[in-house]
Amino acid sequence: MRKNIVAGNWKMNCDLPQTQSLITDLKTGLVKEFNCELMIAPSHPFLYNAFNSTCDTVIEVVSQNVCEAEKGAYTGEISVDMLQSIGIQTVIIGHSERRDTYGETDELLAAKTKAAIDKGMKVIFCCGEHLEERKAGNHFDTVTAQIEKGLFDLTAKEMEKVVVAYEPVWAIGTGETASPEQAQEMHAHLRSFIESKFGKDTAINTSILYGGSVKPANAAEIFAKPDVDGGLVGGASLDAQSFLDIANAF
Ligand code: G3P
Repeated sequence: MRKNIVAGNWKMNCDLPQTQSLITDLKTGLVKEFNCELMIAPSHPFLYNAFNSTCDTVIEVVSQNVCEAEKGAYTGEISVDMLQSIGIQTVIIGHSERRDTYGETDELLAAKTKAAIDKGMKVIFCCGEHLEERKAGNHFDTVTAQIEKGLFDLTAKEMEKVVVAYEPVWAIGTGETASPEQAQEMHAHLRSFIESKFGKDTAINTSILYGGSVKPANAAEIFAKPDVDGGLVGGASLDAQSFLDIANAF
């Protein structure tokens, strides 16, 4: 079911004291009802601590990654079962930093997505073009291919577990936020593409988040667009008040 979501991707930031301090500040700031779901994605070593610190709040703790294999000789990896054993039920898959820095292919991302959904997890599936692809007018084809290769082997029922996050790579960490019009244009394209494969019900019920330099100053205008259902927030999620101000944009 389509929901408004503001998710904080902490990336490789915050040690244990900083994680605990940020969560304390977030909990202190939960003084009102939000018109969106709140999610935070700390680094793996602190997920259990974060889960235990927030399980009595509206904040859901999310993993930044997961292995496609169930268990075994995968040094350094973390399985779906491990995440679920500590209460984690949602995972970010396909972030451009996993694709670009760690070479995660479309095929691997599809396998990770299937592995997570097969065991009942929700997936925030990321897509987004690089600046040169946009400049060449290939941004729609790029994002369409990522979605097709990553999600189109799923059933419509399985797609109920998927949130899509459109993150133009040129807007990530740069302060160069996509305009609300650019975000809406791509989100509408994504929703239409999802409809072409899964039908109208799935398309209108899929949450599509925008990510890429979302800040308190720009969130409301972006979130007001009809096909934008919230944000996947990086830098601004490392400050409790900024993150909550973004959530207040709904
Ligand atoms: O996953 C969200 C992230 O890529 C966006 O980062 O710092 O541009 O908000 P930032």
